[in-house]
Amino acid sequence: MTFQSKNAPVLMLTGAAHGIGRATTHALADHGFRLGLVDRAREPLEQVAEQLRAKGCSVVSAVADVKDSESLHRAVAAIESGLGPVETLVACAGVGGLSSATNLDIPAFRDMLEINVLGVARSIEAVLPGMFARGSGHIVGISSVAGYRGLPWMPGYSASKAALTTYLEGLRPSLKRRGVSITTVYPGFVRTAITQDTPFRKPVKMLEPDQAAKSLVRAIVRKPRDFVFPFSAAVGMGFLKKVPNRMFDWMMDRAGPQALTTEF
Ligand SMILES: NC(=O)c1ccc[n+]([C@@H]2O[C@H](COP(=O)([O-])OP(=O)(O)OC[C@H]3O[C@@H](n4cnc5c(N)ncnc54)[C@H](OP(=O)(O)O)[C@@H]3O)[C@@H](O)[C@H]2O)c1
Repeated sequence: MTFQSKNAPVLMLTGAAHGIGRATTHALADHGFRLGLVDRAREPLEQVAEQLRAKGCSVVSAVADVKDSESLHRAVAAIESGLGPVETLVACAGVGGLSSATNLDIPAFRDMLEINVLGVARSIEAVLPGMFARGSGHIVGISSVAGYRGLPWMPGYSASKAALTTYLEGLRPSLKRRGVSITTVYPGFVRTAITQDTPFRKPVKMLEPDQAAKSLVRAIVRKPRDFVFPFSAAVGMGFLKKVPNRMFDWMMDRAGPQALTTEF
């Protein structure tokens, strides 16, 4: 059972109904946060909300699509009237997808940009007026180590996360002047709907969502500029990020056709 004071911080999380977002809501409830849950499908969102209320957590749930600014503004209004000012936004809603030369899947790529990049921007836009008025706030954007370089199995997803990372970086100084900080989070592989159908040739080590949630809560509480997890992804993908382009290309020419069972 979680006991919460009326002064417990209010946090809004998009993508709360499944995967990393859902696991993080539970970890945050255990940490004493009051929660505004946002996702696009009512039923799974309500299930999470009920589980959290049963634990004693103060929760407001709001259906919103991060492709739709108005629905996000309505969600913020509902959360703020139920719980009070949103002090932290965790922009976790996202979609993944594979693509390659034989199927660039432009509609799916467009969706990734709409949700993973513009969806985060819209979510930020919806909470900023209140944060600016109070002169404080914390934005947590969920990027990915897949955005460090263009990965040959998911060029669209890599591009969306690279765009999100640089978007958040570009926003940081002007938000900082107004008392709002930004943390960019870079998870490695986590076992969720996004990764479950990936046709890996060999088993790949992944975090479970509740392990990812523990790391994410550390980032939310400590507010670093950047936060990468797990350590193995920080080291492995950190290495790939730094290798010279010609070496990266050489490595991917070899790894590209080998990692998945799909045509490359
Ligand atoms: N899993 C990984 O290995 C991994 C690694 C690095 C980064 N990430 C990032 O972590 C975040 C969470 O992903 P996850 O792995 O937990 O995936 P997930 O299990 O699919 O959860 C994503 C959640 O976001 C929701 N969502 C998608 N589009 C939305 C929209 N337009 N409006 C509102 N909600 C929307 C989904 O709803 P539906 O179920 O209706 O689609 C789902 O509830 C994403 O940003 C992802 O890119 C994941």
